[in-house]
Amino acid sequence: MAKFTVLGGPSSEQLAKKIASRLKSRYIPSELRTFPDGESKVTLKGRPSGKIIVVQSIHPPVDSNLVRALALVSQARKYSSQVYAVIPYLGYARQDREFLPGEIVTISLVAKMFKSVGASRIIIVDIHSMKALNLFQIPTKNVSAVEELVRYFKRLKLKSPLVVSPDIGGIERARNFARLLGTDHIALEKQRDRRTGEVAIKQGDHHDVKGRDLILVDDMISTGGSIVKAAEYLKKQKCGKIYATCTHALLMGDAEKKIKQAGVTKIVSTNTIPGKTGIVDVSPVIAKAIS
Ligand code: R5P
Repeated sequence: MAKFTVLGGPSSEQLAKKIASRLKSRYIPSELRTFPDGESKVTLKGRPSGKIIVVQSIHPPVDSNLVRALALVSQARKYSSQVYAVIPYLGYARQDREFLPGEIVTISLVAKMFKSVGASRIIIVDIHSMKALNLFQIPTKNVSAVEELVRYFKRLKLKSPLVVSPDIGGIERARNFARLLGTDHIALEKQRDRRTGEVAIKQGDHHDVKGRDLILVDDMISTGGSIVKAAEYLKKQKCGKIYATCTHALLMGDAEKKIKQAGVTKIVSTNTIPGKTGIVDVSPVIAKAIS
């Protein structure tokens, strides 16, 4: 009997196959039908055995992919008492606290749902916050894609590279990235209007970026607003090329176009969310966390 069976959820089929091959495990795909009213119908295309690993990212359509993940875990639980939910990108993790009075901390509901459908362990890649991680009441592991991203950037011939976080909150990520790349880092001061979502970079701070190639590092890019404002600010200071990198590239709407127009040479992300920029593979770090 195979040690693991990997179930590929509809949002993470390719990544799930890679994880199965690294773990030398059986792979079972799922089939998705979306009814005209938007309901999801997920069907397993085989009978799993052993420990089961469900791989399903919760990226847009977020609510549908969440329901599909819960349905897969719940079904897998019928075949095994050991069901690992691998959620490469965990949507809702930004809703980890009550920013404005009355706001609901939805990630805590998501955490409860995974427990109640029978997940015995959760593995997430670069979760937005540790606060969100701690809301899960089952063993939960966060793995980092930073080493894999750095491996990509080491192959580029960058001119005196400097790692930049678009906000103070991301300084640890930037520090770690820079340490692995063997260079230094800075963090800009971003301000976000909690009601409109608009971002601005605090002007006037002096950062010596002139002539240096920059790597803007974030956990995720959604509307692109944070990267656009940071790139515009840095371009004014006559930096060299700007690269934008993140683990999760949601790239909503025309985010990619706006980022390129702001002077970013290339966007590099991972395959936690499938897409054109998702060129860095996170299956090695996920497989390592499981085995
Ligand atoms: C914020 O705290 C996150 O780390 C990202 O900076 C943010 O979610 C990116 O969103 P957007 O691309 O919409 O600015």
